[in-house]
Amino acid sequence: MKISAILLAAGSGERLKKGAPKAFVEVQGQAMFLHSLDLLERHPQVSEIILVVPKPKINVAKRLSAAFKKIKKITAGGSTRQKSLAAGLEFCREKVVLSQNAANPFATIKEISGLIQALKGSDAAAVAHRADSTVRENLKTLDRRKIWLMETPQISKKDFLIRGLQIANRQKIEATDELQLAELAGAKIKIISADKKNRKITHPIDLKNGSMFHVPCSMRVGLGHDSHRFSKSKRPLILGGFKISADGGLEGNSDGDVLLHALTNALSSALGGGSLSTFADAMCRRGMRDSKKYLELTLKKMRAAKFTVKNLAVSIEGRKPKLEKHFPKIKKQLTKLLKLDSSRIGLTATTGEGLTAFGRGEGLQVFAIVLLRNL
Ligand code: CTP
Ligand code: MG
Repeated sequence: MKISAILLAAGSGERLKKGAPKAFVEVQGQAMFLHSLDLLERHPQVSEIILVVPKPKINVAKRLSAAFKKIKKITAGGSTRQKSLAAGLEFCREKVVLSQNAANPFATIKEISGLIQALKGSDAAAVAHRADSTVRENLKTLDRRKIWLMETPQISKKDFLIRGLQIANRQKIEATDELQLAELAGAKIKIISADKKNRKITHPIDLKNGSMFHVPCSMRVGLGHDSHRFSKSKRPLILGGFKISADGGLEGNSDGDVLLHALTNALSSALGGGSLSTFADAMCRRGMRDSKKYLELTLKKMRAAKFTVKNLAVSIEGRKPKLEKHFPKIKKQLTKLLKLDSSRIGLTATTGEGLTAFGRGEGLQVFAIVLLRNL
């Protein structure tokens, strides 16, 4: 069974009091909604993801989620959760829809699989916690064994959600979850136990509690290096895929982009691969001199291994030319090539004070370090 997933990340996060939309507040080193994106991307039965965010955040969301292949659409949410759901539902192509709050960053693969199982005997299902405290409705104590505290993910046959939304709109009901909507349309529902750590983040204290949980993640670090001598003939100087000048370029069989070579080496080493020359020399002989091609090939390998770049640090040594003023343009180029936010790219340069061949202005030397994280 294939499933469309709607990731609801369009709330304002009033109660969290961070002065920013909740889904974009950092949890364990990344924007909250990226945890759920990771989860949905990893579940084999989720075939597409519709990400719903506040309208002013669409571009930021696009940048942050560029590495996620299953995203079909990033769209603007509405003033209520129900409206945001309706906005996302329009783009769902599968017959079954999974909804996930960005505010539930600790949801698990097992919960999604459990919901898919639960759908065998029902039309909609959701994860929830049993009430631990005594529950009262004003003066009446309720039987807490019958009380469930709802969380996401939730799953529903799409037709029930569509009809549920129509009924809710007609009857002016504002549902705060999908089970309620499916129920309005007469769905047979099921509730399964939520993972103990999967609690919605609502108040500042929830963020603190959440920091205790371990988010399964695997990191890789890569180190790359390259150096080239300046050419005696007229060649363009290209660094990070950006043409700095028509002259003063570096020697090499390729375009001599020493920065992209160091970066490609770093990526390759992080993936357990070999040096640039082991694949780029052959590409060069086939006439591919653009260093972006070597980088692209390595990025493809990285995606196949289900990793994404989290940040890049580059250090350049050379007496000439002065590079600092070109950094914004080089950064822009790297942002595009790596689909990485510019705040995650650091470029530094040093003249080398005449101590080395680079310090004497005979060439350029570059070191690059990358950090990769699994998808
Ligand atoms: N949500 C949404 N669109 C809205 C409101 C909420 O997509 N108009 C999403 C939130 O981004 C969140 C989930 O629904 O992932 C659960 O909502 P809630 O915890 O209430 O989040 P916020 O509305 O952002 O928080 P608050 O109510 O404190 O403002
Ligand atoms: Mg809300």
